[in-house]
Amino acid sequence: MNFKDQIDKSRLPEHVAIIMDGNGRWAKQRGRLRTFGHSSGVKSVRETAEGAAEIGVKYLTLYAFSTENWKRPRSEVNALMTLLVKTLNKEIKTLHDNNIRLLAIGDLKSLPDNTYKELQYAIRETAHHNKMAMVLALSYSSRWEIVNAAKIIAEKVQKGELSPDDINNDLFSSYLTTANIPDPELLIRTSGEYRISNFLLWQIAYAEFYFTPKLWPDFRREDLFEAIVDFQKRERRFGKTSEQIVSK
Ligand code: FPP
Repeated sequence: MNFKDQIDKSRLPEHVAIIMDGNGRWAKQRGRLRTFGHSSGVKSVRETAEGAAEIGVKYLTLYAFSTENWKRPRSEVNALMTLLVKTLNKEIKTLHDNNIRLLAIGDLKSLPDNTYKELQYAIRETAHHNKMAMVLALSYSSRWEIVNAAKIIAEKVQKGELSPDDINNDLFSSYLTTANIPDPELLIRTSGEYRISNFLLWQIAYAEFYFTPKLWPDFRREDLFEAIVDFQKRERRFGKTSEQIVSK
């Protein structure tokens, strides 16, 4: 039986987040430039988004560019930004065909003008779709996001618009760039690295982690389905005991 048929549709993760890693190594193995790995990773993005929407996942968040990635050689950063514009332009049809809405999280104002504009255009044009939201994390880092939220909250307290007693988990979450997006239940990282790399640190408090040695350009929808099957075999206790979960 293939992995898709093993998935229990009544217990799907509503939100899957992916750290797409290994593009550079994939290209190197083929004697090609790192940027070839990034452009080859677009097919994996398309397959994963289509596969996730097809089975009923509601949110798919992809770590496409971290705050730390700005430190890469300028030629690679430029190539990634160009690829992003090109991909958004070309793949908007895939989003329409699959009823997928595009969202973005991160310090979006730090993106080059044309990348920012193309992104906002794709977000606007797909705003009516409701099968799934694909959330691109761009110029994103979790510590940036948390510090940013803390600053906004502190300013509101200073102005008397908020009281320190109002600050709780829900309020804090509402100042993150993921406000209104449920926390991911499943976090996948490709390329055999066992790190979180400053991704959704607050939001993955109770997420299940799935690591695969596959490099991102080799990741296909069956790999996503395999990760979901694995996720469904786990018991999520949220700090409770096994007995409490069973008797619920
Ligand atoms: C990590 O691989 C990947 C990235 C930094 C970029 C991800 C971008 C894409 C898959 C391309 C397009 C995406 C969208 C959403 C349009 P790495 O370069 O760190 O690989 P390495 O660890 O092998 O060096």
